Amino acid sequence: MIITKLGINGFKNLKEISLSAHSRLNIFSGENAQGKTNIIEALWLCTGCRSFRGTKDKDFIDLDGQRAEINLTFKDNFREQKISVAAAKPNYKEKNVTLNGVPVKKLSKLFGNLKCVIFTPEDLELAKGSPDNRRSYLDLSVSQIKLGYKDVVSKYDYLILQRNTLLKSISQGISKVEELDVWDEQIARLGAYISVLRFSYTKKLNIFASKLHRELSRGREQLEICYNSTVFKSLEGRTDFKGEMAEEYLAVLKKNLRDDIKCGFTQAGTHRDDLITKINGLSSREYGSQGQQRSVAIILKLSQAYILSEETGDRPVILLDDVLSELDSARQQFILSSIEGMQVFITCCSSEGIDSADGKIFCVKSGRVCEKSQKGKR
Ligand SMILES: Nc1ncnc2c1ncn2[C@@H]1O[C@H](COP(=O)(O)OP(=O)(O)O)[C@@H](O)[C@H]1O
Ligand SMILES: [Mg+2]
Repeated sequence: MIITKLGINGFKNLKEISLSAHSRLNIFSGENAQGKTNIIEALWLCTGCRSFRGTKDKDFIDLDGQRAEINLTFKDNFREQKISVAAAKPNYKEKNVTLNGVPVKKLSKLFGNLKCVIFTPEDLELAKGSPDNRRSYLDLSVSQIKLGYKDVVSKYDYLILQRNTLLKSISQGISKVEELDVWDEQIARLGAYISVLRFSYTKKLNIFASKLHRELSRGREQLEICYNSTVFKSLEGRTDFKGEMAEEYLAVLKKNLRDDIKCGFTQAGTHRDDLITKINGLSSREYGSQGQQRSVAIILKLSQAYILSEETGDRPVILLDDVLSELDSARQQFILSSIEGMQVFITCCSSEGIDSADGKIFCVKSGRVCEKSQKGKR
């Protein structure tokens, strides 16, 4: 997958950007607060995912402007496609989104077309931080290869929210325990399905990740990744999410009911599961050094890109926002050599140290972009 053209105007501080991307390396270099991450964010929105830094609708548009527009052209194995996203004040919530000129109901409906893997400095906390981040990582990774999975997770999250509200209302004597049944059955069915898909993804992940980590640690360390379910003792070989597994899930919800009511929260379920990473048998979250934890985060992201390539037959576009400067040169080189063959967008304060022979350098200043001419280049 290759992004060929990018046009942005009025999105945050970005102005009149119109560029032809290089098929390999695109480096956006500039001082702080010039708009580099905003460019990556605009690109990322075209994947149909929510902003990775939680930008609200009202903050899309330039504070001093009236309208924001993003136009992107990309090629996959089959054809060239065009995405456009526009919003204008005062109805900034109503975005005008089109795919190949055809209106799309909302931004999230673009999901599944342009496929990117993004890596930001916050992602370096993936191995160390809260399980929430690892679940989001897993769910995004699975949804990129499994159509419809994203909607299942959204529905599950909605059901859990409803259940938790009801639990509180039961403890206050306002609602009856029987009212839980209708939620529990749906939660059990969806939860069993989510467990099966996350487990199967984790198995693939473990294969790619352990191989990559052996390379990165030059054979010194063995990385192992497994899925930790709060419902099922083992998920190995299990596929019957509509039958037996859903019943087992339901039984766990019932077993925990008294405690759940007491704390007003559903304690077991896929919303509490975690991805466990171990280096040489020890949890990297608890015992890993900062370097090891960063290596694991890098490897999770690289594996995501590899699995996506393998499953879809098309390589994703890699977005590296300010992440290289956080890493030592060995890890930087490892990332860059691992993603050879994929198109990359990198933001950094200085492009020094990055071999840009096979790429373009763009300078970002006050929301504007110009291409840097490179000596000796065609
Ligand atoms: N809605 C907005 N309108 C105008 N400028 C904005 C808006 N939101 C953020 N900015 C500006 O964007 C700049 C930060 O851009 P960013 O892409 O994060 O910079 P960096 O180059 O450091 O990655 C800041 O100058 C900020 O004031
Ligand atoms: Mg930035």
